[in-house]
Amino acid sequence: MYTLLERAAEFLELCARELDRPQDPSRWDQVRREVEHRGTYTHTFEELQVGGRVAWRNSTRCIGRLHWPSLVVRDHRNLHRPGEIFRALMDHLRFATNQGRIRSTLSIFPPADPLTGRAPRIWNGKLVRYAGYPDGPGDPEEIPFTRICRELGWRPEGKPGEFDLLPVVIQGAGDGEGVPGGGGGGEEPQWFQLPRKEVLEVEIRHPRLPFMGEMGLRWYAVPVITDMVLELGGIEYPCAPFNGWFMGTEIGARNLSDPDRYDLLPRVALGMGLDPEERTGLWRDRAMLELNEAVLHSFREDGVTVVDHHTASRQWEAFAARERNAGRPVYGDWSWLVPPLSGSTSSVFHTEMENRVLSPNFYYQDPPWREDGGEALHACPFHIRSRREEGAPA
Ligand code: ARG
Repeated sequence: MYTLLERAAEFLELCARELDRPQDPSRWDQVRREVEHRGTYTHTFEELQVGGRVAWRNSTRCIGRLHWPSLVVRDHRNLHRPGEIFRALMDHLRFATNQGRIRSTLSIFPPADPLTGRAPRIWNGKLVRYAGYPDGPGDPEEIPFTRICRELGWRPEGKPGEFDLLPVVIQGAGDGEGVPGGGGGGEEPQWFQLPRKEVLEVEIRHPRLPFMGEMGLRWYAVPVITDMVLELGGIEYPCAPFNGWFMGTEIGARNLSDPDRYDLLPRVALGMGLDPEERTGLWRDRAMLELNEAVLHSFREDGVTVVDHHTASRQWEAFAARERNAGRPVYGDWSWLVPPLSGSTSSVFHTEMENRVLSPNFYYQDPPWREDGGEALHACPFHIRSRREEGAPA
């Protein structure tokens, strides 16, 4: 499928199939005429909703896809200005958080302009993240983005800490003319402080190891991905943030454990009285297990939705079975689906799978800013995007 019309035709067919009803010839006429006159077309809300849900279903790196039919899709295609986009993002966060009973939610902002490719963009990779400071505290993964925020004038409140909320950086699409400094016609990005009261966080403690509660660890409740482009029927939505809920290992076995993230296993091991010099290195496994128990325990005790990796693996099996029953092939990215803790205890580990990327889907896109020789530059984002094929699950 190559041209926009061909992609649109395929998508309308998919929508009819998903909604289990015959295709509406008048809708097709409408889309065709619109594409002829404007070079693009406008999705109905129903199409957005079906498209968003199927894009999740097609996301081969996601182990939580059993829940795709319940995705809540919010239509914000009428919002263009950074200030109003920020307010909609706070609404998204509040709705999705739901006092801890997390709701999977997708917010769709204006699509890319068919001629210029321009669209509003969120510069953050995730809506909520903690700042990282070179040779200092915080999340090392966020050091480059934190530098961008500082260049834009943001400063942490007080001295840099381990868990400083980053601001939300939003760039309007601009009108394409005479916007200074926004290479290629985008507007200058604006940053917005993320109010602490909008961000539900969980303090990490362990049911049996009191020292862990004294380490001052925390994580936010709702993972919202803000930097992927949603493609539906040939239309691209570069600003389409979405969230699910955490699988405990994302926090316990990656964010808090990876050597190039918070790197906490040595400290946890010491707290447990283990010897990090010990030859086999199995102190790492013991520390990681306890840290993961602490994450699950803390989220559950606080009433915040979280799934453990064994339950998630069973849910993935259920998803795969349901898809096969519906006559659809099941694709998956094995290296992402296998949990990062005790991989071979998960049935996913023992399953052969093919990784095929179907449309609609969520794709990586180049960040609107890039780093150059240690110095951060912001460059125009539009229409240049890549599918990063490598890299570990994040
Ligand atoms: N692993 C990413 C993070 O820790 C979040 C990816 C999305 N995860 C999810 N459960 N929907 O920030």
